[in-house]
Amino acid sequence: MSQLTIALTKGRILKETLPLLAEVGIVPSEDIASSRKLMFATNRDDIRLLVLRGTDVPTYVQFGAADLGIAGKDTLLENGDDGYYEPIDLGISRCRLMTAGMVDAPPVTGRIRVATKYINVARRYYAEKGVQADIIKLYGAMELAPLIELCDEIVDIVDTGNTLKANGLEPRELIDVVSSRLIVNKGALKIKHKLIQPLLDGFSSLVAARVQRESEAASA
Ligand code: PRP
Repeated sequence: MSQLTIALTKGRILKETLPLLAEVGIVPSEDIASSRKLMFATNRDDIRLLVLRGTDVPTYVQFGAADLGIAGKDTLLENGDDGYYEPIDLGISRCRLMTAGMVDAPPVTGRIRVATKYINVARRYYAEKGVQADIIKLYGAMELAPLIELCDEIVDIVDTGNTLKANGLEPRELIDVVSSRLIVNKGALKIKHKLIQPLLDGFSSLVAARVQRESEAASA
């Protein structure tokens, strides 16, 4: 029997992903949150789930170790889109990819120093603006970097803005809006089309229904 492997992003995205999976009829056989396992069987014999760091999801899908994946657009922008399609914006885990700096910082003259885990996104962004930037790779706690003068700006995701505020920073320019996307390995879509297409249809219907609800709520 042909099997599908779906790579999920752990953390915040996972919390919003599990209800969506349940709505398309996929339920893990055990509680993912309270387990140290990384691979889970589901109520469907032909579907298993992997729980990964977000940055690894596109890699697993790109190389076909997973047929489908769910990852933030920020991660996909950083990773590039080799080997997979990105057919559905699931509309969950919405936030913004932004530049930020210290409140009331004087303008930078000359090259700007930027700390981020999104080095590819940052390189593209500052190059497109014609700004000469030195990009410094960090793996977390970006908000600390301008505070201790490691850099002038950071590029990071902003949700409520509380983390920026708590560290004396302010959002500056919007690079992109972010939400979680369903991605599909290109080869798998051809070879396992009969298994994958109904899932894509299921997710698409969910998203369409939510967009409908949101537009009704907005006009009420
Ligand atoms: C993200 C991001 C910010 C924070 C923004 O970190 O890097 O630190 O969320 O959220 P806010 O605007 O609501 O304060 P996350 O908690 O996902 O952890 P990470 O550092 O591992 O990415």
